[in-house]
Amino acid sequence: MEYKTILNNISNKNPIAFFDSGVGGLTVFEKVKKLMPDENFLYFGDTKNMPYGEKTEEQLLEFADKIFKFFENKNAKAVVMACNTTSAITYEKLKNNYNFKIYPIIQSVCSTLAQMQGVNRLGIIATPATINSHAYSKEIAKYNKDMKVFELSAPNWVRIVEEHRITQPQSIMQVEEILDIMQGFKPDKIVLACTHYPYLISVLKKFMPEETFLDPSLYFARNIKQDLTTSGLLNDKFEYEKFYVSSNPQNFKTASEMFYKLNELPEIVNL
Ligand code: DGL
Repeated sequence: MEYKTILNNISNKNPIAFFDSGVGGLTVFEKVKKLMPDENFLYFGDTKNMPYGEKTEEQLLEFADKIFKFFENKNAKAVVMACNTTSAITYEKLKNNYNFKIYPIIQSVCSTLAQMQGVNRLGIIATPATINSHAYSKEIAKYNKDMKVFELSAPNWVRIVEEHRITQPQSIMQVEEILDIMQGFKPDKIVLACTHYPYLISVLKKFMPEETFLDPSLYFARNIKQDLTTSGLLNDKFEYEKFYVSSNPQNFKTASEMFYKLNELPEIVNL
């Protein structure tokens, strides 16, 4: 995809900012940080408004706009929409309103997903809002009209992760129920199209081979690095990273551990 250009009065030292409804975006953050260790980072988990996948378009636009303005005040040079739901529902409407780079996950990764060797039938598991928007099937059709895409929502999976109930029998049953439906479609690969879902991999692989599941965050991180490089916006020395949440900092720290260990509790901000 083409990312928008920004005014050139932004310093390369300015942070790359991430947001999601909670810990899901850390699955992207962790990969970006590995690829670009010299960058400064901000991360906002909108835990008070989680789960985003059950919110209306109007609510999601309001949350995203507030978070973008928060990052504007912190002089972000780029904002990573590390959330499929907000990328699906708000990116097109908000993309020209702020003077920083904006990277939406769905629009960034679909050209890669659409052109994977040997994949003719692609399963998409995501939040209800992402599935109802058909953002994945529409984006994939731009690059490959022949790929068969089957979109399925998993309403409870985000809460399982945020409430760290991953190993409970009821959670395992809820994962199995969705995979049973998906298996009927006989997918070659299944995209974990919500950034929270990679936290569930230990359960997912009980029911289908691990290599069936695709976490698109690595493709996303590579695209972000490439665009910041060609835009001349890379930093050369790490100075800080800072985490914020809208509620429950201790819960965020505990739930995030599988992907990123925070040294201290995130700061609470009320937007
Ligand atoms: N992790 C987000 C996504 O990728 C949002 C999940 C939610 O809060 O429902 O869609």
